[in-house]
Amino acid sequence: MHSLRPSEPRPSERRRSEPVSPVRQHAALRTGASGPGLPRRPALEIPVIAHRGASDDVPEHTLAAYEAALLQGADGLECDVRLTADMQLVCVHDRRVNRTSNGRGVVSTLELAQLRQLDFGSWKQPAAGEEHEYAEYPDLRREGAHRVLTLERLLQLVVEHPHRVEMAIETKHPTRYAGLVEEHLVALLDRFGLAHPRLGETSPVRVMSFSAMSVRRIRRLAPSLDTVLLLDRVPLRLRDGSLPRGVRIAGPGIHILRIHPEYVERVHSMGNRVHVWTVDQPSDIDLCVELGVDAIISNRPKAVLARLGRDGTAAAAAARHGVVELNPDSP
Ligand code: G3P
Ligand code: CA
Repeated sequence: MHSLRPSEPRPSERRRSEPVSPVRQHAALRTGASGPGLPRRPALEIPVIAHRGASDDVPEHTLAAYEAALLQGADGLECDVRLTADMQLVCVHDRRVNRTSNGRGVVSTLELAQLRQLDFGSWKQPAAGEEHEYAEYPDLRREGAHRVLTLERLLQLVVEHPHRVEMAIETKHPTRYAGLVEEHLVALLDRFGLAHPRLGETSPVRVMSFSAMSVRRIRRLAPSLDTVLLLDRVPLRLRDGSLPRGVRIAGPGIHILRIHPEYVERVHSMGNRVHVWTVDQPSDIDLCVELGVDAIISNRPKAVLARLGRDGTAAAAAARHGVVELNPDSP
């Protein structure tokens, strides 16, 4: 069970949590009635994180989806991780492979070799009359781009990229392997030099979970990694914007901010940050900008970048990081 995935709030709780309409809360925010928190981030500086890759265009959690996200200029990549029967971390959202592959079964009971037999791409076909994003990026159709993606392969993509790419890795619980997930995750990150950044440096990786226990395990195993507590409802004890000890980033679903936009300011007033999922609609992007969130996680990174007024291309992303792209045609 997600420890924070809640049952419906009790009526008394609901009354307490809905004292002001969202519209009036917006007005309060604009007047700057805030505490000594973090400054609000300008739109152009909000990192855009591709949720399961550019998963609106390309089948989720495939290498192709992540390559597409980088081509579209995303600042970071989100993925879910699960352990296979032979203790390999793979990027799969659901407990079973049934929805996103041509196979059946529970990820944790299958070995990596068995998962590698499956096609994780063909389930997602473009709607009639529409073209796949592949039309734009034919290379994404190559062999292997739609096989199961190991976290190791995804990290390789990230560390080989010419500029820094953020990684938001979500541990999925419950699972029969409990704390082994975090142990294998930190060991793998360590192999890439991403688990224990030196003083004054920050890892591009942060670990997220709905499970407070999982977040605690990461804090214990890799104390200098950023952690995100994901929330699909804000429990009473955290409604003042505080977070569990050691956690500095709240990860509310956009549905929370539609009803309680003041939550962002509360988190900021505690010196914490807010990363919001899954933000695909223009009105939701606008709300995130107005509230000054610290990261937008979206299935449509290209559309979000455009709405933020940024050039959604790999070249623009490179330029943002000061990387000069060499023209292969120039002498
Ligand atoms: O980025 C957080 C978000 O991915 C949480 O929900 O179900 O899509 O993993 P889910
Ligand atoms: Ca996720």
